[in-house]
Amino acid sequence: MDGPVRRVRVLGASGYDVVVGAGALAELGREARRFSRERTAVIISKTVHDLHGARILPQLGECDTRAFVMPDGEEYKSLDFARDAFEWMLGAGLGRKSAVVGVGGGVVGDFSGFLAALFMRGLPVIHVPTTLLAMVDSSVGGKVAVNISAGKNIVGAFHQPSLVVADVSLLATLPEEEIRNGLTEAVKHALIGEKSLLEMLERTAPGEVRKPDVLDAMVYGSVRFKGDVVGRDEHEHGMRAILNFGHTVGHALESLSAYRGISHGQAVALGMKAELKISHNLGMLPAGECREAMDLVDKFALAGTRVRFDTAEIVRHMRFDKKNSGGSIRPVLLEGIGKPVYDIPVEEAVLEEAMTGLWA
Ligand SMILES: NC(=O)c1ccc[n+]([C@@H]2O[C@H](COP(=O)([O-])OP(=O)(O)OC[C@H]3O[C@@H](n4cnc5c(N)ncnc54)[C@H](O)[C@@H]3O)[C@@H](O)[C@H]2O)c1
Repeated sequence: MDGPVRRVRVLGASGYDVVVGAGALAELGREARRFSRERTAVIISKTVHDLHGARILPQLGECDTRAFVMPDGEEYKSLDFARDAFEWMLGAGLGRKSAVVGVGGGVVGDFSGFLAALFMRGLPVIHVPTTLLAMVDSSVGGKVAVNISAGKNIVGAFHQPSLVVADVSLLATLPEEEIRNGLTEAVKHALIGEKSLLEMLERTAPGEVRKPDVLDAMVYGSVRFKGDVVGRDEHEHGMRAILNFGHTVGHALESLSAYRGISHGQAVALGMKAELKISHNLGMLPAGECREAMDLVDKFALAGTRVRFDTAEIVRHMRFDKKNSGGSIRPVLLEGIGKPVYDIPVEEAVLEEAMTGLWA
């Protein structure tokens, strides 16, 4: 059932609206026309097309659209596939006054944003995120990229959307693991500063996370928080780095497991636990707050996750992560719940000690 739709403005007067709520799709119809004066390309995931295409595509009825149905999988977020899509866009008659609408999870969002950033030197992009992760995280902030064999998200740009429409009713069909991937990022936002989200998650039972009002609050709180951070530091010259909380260790775990056997959500959840423990061991995070934060991570993101990696190997991987600059490893740390600090080098022995026995 449709509820109230709320708007979050990102990057002020020259920025864009993120429309959140069950029923937000109706705004897509009303607003998309503003951004496309010529043919519009709709880049849509195959799964989403089959499940929700009949509901989403008619909303764009006022635009002259052509749909590009994209197979599912991270492997399609590639330069090769982008070249195919660029050729399709040209053949489909897109021009310099066209727009791109990306409909799907973070893979489609990153890919369609990448196409929009480069085609004819840049077209407006509208994101219609359909996973929880894409709603709480990837659709906001303008990072777009594809992968190359040397690594994920290596080739990309900052290309802010013109509009984001996050209709939480689309999440009803989302598999459990994908809900958990998004939840992890919402927990991250709660721990690094979104107080209302923290309070909401603390009083919510794990079995309640699919309730429409809980999803709505999770997306709204996350978008408001991330939008504010992006507004202060659009191109990640400084404090936007706090959004990497849990990701320094998380990336190492994903890369060690060759992106198999551990989901992004599980890796980041384990990463948050490690970075909380490091913060505590360095005397920054009091024991009570460390426990409270760990409990929140365990409650939503980690049930049943057991991963055993050699801690020295994890640290070795972190050394090569593109996020670690100047030869030192700088995970985001907490001085308290809601008080992240970044750019602090941590010695490898401290990292190893914090991770030892943490996930046994
Ligand atoms: N740009 C950023 O700031 C940013 C931030 C975080 C992650 N990312 C990127 O996001 C990607 C991961 O995104 P993701 O977690 O959304 O994964 P995804 O895009 O692969 O989607 C996960 C699966 O859910 C399916 N799906 C999507 N919507 C559905 C729905 N409503 N019902 C049922 N199934 C549905 C998809 O078809 C897919 O199989 C990665 O490539 C990552 O690098 C980008």
